Amino acid sequence: MSTPFEPIRIGSIELENRLAMAPIKTAYGTKDGRVTERLVAYFRRRAEGGAGLIISEPLYVDRRGREHPKQTGIDSDDKLGGLSDLTGEIHKAGSRVFAHLNHGGRAANPKASGGPPEAPSNVVCTRTGLEPEVLSTERIADLVAAFADAGVRAVDAGFDGVELQFGMGYLVSQFLSQKTNLRSDAHGGDVEGRTRFAREVFSAVRDAVGEQFPIGVRISGSEKTPGGLDIEDALDLARRLESWGADMIHVASGSSCDSPPWYFQHMALPNGVNETLASGIKNGIDLPVMVAGRMGEPSRIREVLDNGMIDMVALGRPLLADPDLPKEMMEGRDDEVLICGSCLQGCLGRIMSGQDIGCNINPELGREADVIEPASTPRRVIVVGGGPAGLQTALTAQRRGHHVTLFEKDRLGGQFTLASRAPGKEKLGRSLGSMIARVERSGIEIRLGDEATLDKLVALEPDVVMLATGSRPALPEVPGLDGPVTGEDVLASSCEIGDRVLILGGGMVGMEVAEFLAGKGRQCAVVEVLDEVGKDMVPINRKLMMKRLESLPVEIHTGTGLVRVDGRDVVVERGGEQRVLGKFDDVVIAVGNQSFDPLSEALRKEGIHVEVIGDAEKPARVYDAVDSGHKAAMAV
Ligand SMILES: Cc1cc2nc3c(=O)[nH]c(=O)nc-3n(C[C@H](O)[C@H](O)[C@H](O)COP(=O)(O)O)c2cc1C
Ligand code: SF4
Repeated sequence: MSTPFEPIRIGSIELENRLAMAPIKTAYGTKDGRVTERLVAYFRRRAEGGAGLIISEPLYVDRRGREHPKQTGIDSDDKLGGLSDLTGEIHKAGSRVFAHLNHGGRAANPKASGGPPEAPSNVVCTRTGLEPEVLSTERIADLVAAFADAGVRAVDAGFDGVELQFGMGYLVSQFLSQKTNLRSDAHGGDVEGRTRFAREVFSAVRDAVGEQFPIGVRISGSEKTPGGLDIEDALDLARRLESWGADMIHVASGSSCDSPPWYFQHMALPNGVNETLASGIKNGIDLPVMVAGRMGEPSRIREVLDNGMIDMVALGRPLLADPDLPKEMMEGRDDEVLICGSCLQGCLGRIMSGQDIGCNINPELGREADVIEPASTPRRVIVVGGGPAGLQTALTAQRRGHHVTLFEKDRLGGQFTLASRAPGKEKLGRSLGSMIARVERSGIEIRLGDEATLDKLVALEPDVVMLATGSRPALPEVPGLDGPVTGEDVLASSCEIGDRVLILGGGMVGMEVAEFLAGKGRQCAVVEVLDEVGKDMVPINRKLMMKRLESLPVEIHTGTGLVRVDGRDVVVERGGEQRVLGKFDDVVIAVGNQSFDPLSEALRKEGIHVEVIGDAEKPARVYDAVDSGHKAAMAV
């Protein structure tokens, strides 16, 4: 039995509380793997938010194990200056910090690592499709030494401990697993052989850092892939680690190559799995055990710690979304936490497309050094539209000391409310709710159910009007199609839909509508002119959705255009040939959105300063809408 805010001993040190920041690649480093001021500010902010322990982003111990072109390294002494700045700032803010040491093995990225991936055996990484080079015995010894040298640098740079990455499908776990270790030499074969590299790395690091320096180890409680490591393997490893002298075990799940949804804890997966894995391991050893994976609900954190199920909770995305989560909980303000929606759009989605991490609901992520200064002259700011862009604009403007009024004629949340109705996206609703609650608590004047007309706005004599009026579904002219239904209508359940439904447009909304309707027993056909559906989706989300669709009555016709509708017959065209696709009861339009901005011109004619924000300016993702609202409010 322990509360989140009871200290805990990890080896020779004591942590002030039981909340830690999980390791997350940020891409805030330099191309040659150095710490930047931005990275320092990012970690300082998380420490100021009250996390008792910060686990660094994965620091590569050898360049060949690098995963991202802007990942930070601990592979050479010339990086010590930046790493020392990092630990110094985290300490000043009152937290402890562990260096997370990793080599990606077959999951490394050749664009970042300067060579092909290397691994115990030539087993292709499913995610990248790359076949690794097999490590020689000499190279294995080099890598053991690289981990040890990294340990020494961690001590020299002022870290309070190290966390060794022995899980998540990275190099060490590639040795542990029969699926990825096909060697017949001393580093393969039976469990003694497969655990040899782990033991060598652990012992070398222990020798390098000394008996008193805490060593935590991150493992996968299960790799969640057929033939991969499971809970029995994890428990066996944890017991070995205990006997080798580890100070803490950190349990997550998944494998970077084989099961990214588990690794990234996709919102559509069942809840509670990592907690069960971690508590199974805790019951088998005497070391403190920490769990990570969708633990961002304060009530859940309290539950698992209060009932002694687990000793510590690591938070990844929840601290990206709200770095103050620990402090808010500590002060009993659980309802003020901004809840991560597990959407993976701003964080993983950006990393996967070669950018740095961001967050859909926290535009300050990555901009921690830009202090939000009060405006020199508080102004009368009116925000029109209560979708994500409008909510963020209002929040940032209010924080800068402006007098803010928010008009929303319908419901706060806008189209985002509908997004949370799509299958597997229910968590988004909870996240949006926490953002709305923040606006409601902020003192912003909210005029809900009140349409912002030109006359009303002019009468209020604003200094600036920020228009976040969003977008509306684009409605293409299709001969024979009268009064079509839109994807939004379907998700809002504001219309009757027949048994056979044609969905025009196979982007994210069209596909979600197809899944939504098929899940309610409708026969669906999706017609998409491009050669692929779901092109605008985060790849991991698309992959999972396509898998779910396999068992649902959804036909997909790519490279196909809708020509006309003749009664119930739908005529399509593909490769210059027209044909009747079949009879349908309804056609749902989901071909994207058009900006909706009915006010800017008229307001400008009245001489009022106007800013058009988010979808009202250009339809884009939630991330871009929130970001544009924040930037606009920072400039007022
Ligand atoms: C963008 C992103 C990058 C991540 N990078 C790493 C990584 O390099 N190493 C690692 O062990 N886990 C990594 N993780 C996984 C997190 O540490 C954590 O286990 C996972 O996000 C689930 O926890 P959460 O729900 O608290 O975010 C990453 C997660 C995200 C979202
Ligand atoms: S982008 Fe989405 S998943 Fe990532 S931290 Fe923000 S809310 Fe969470």
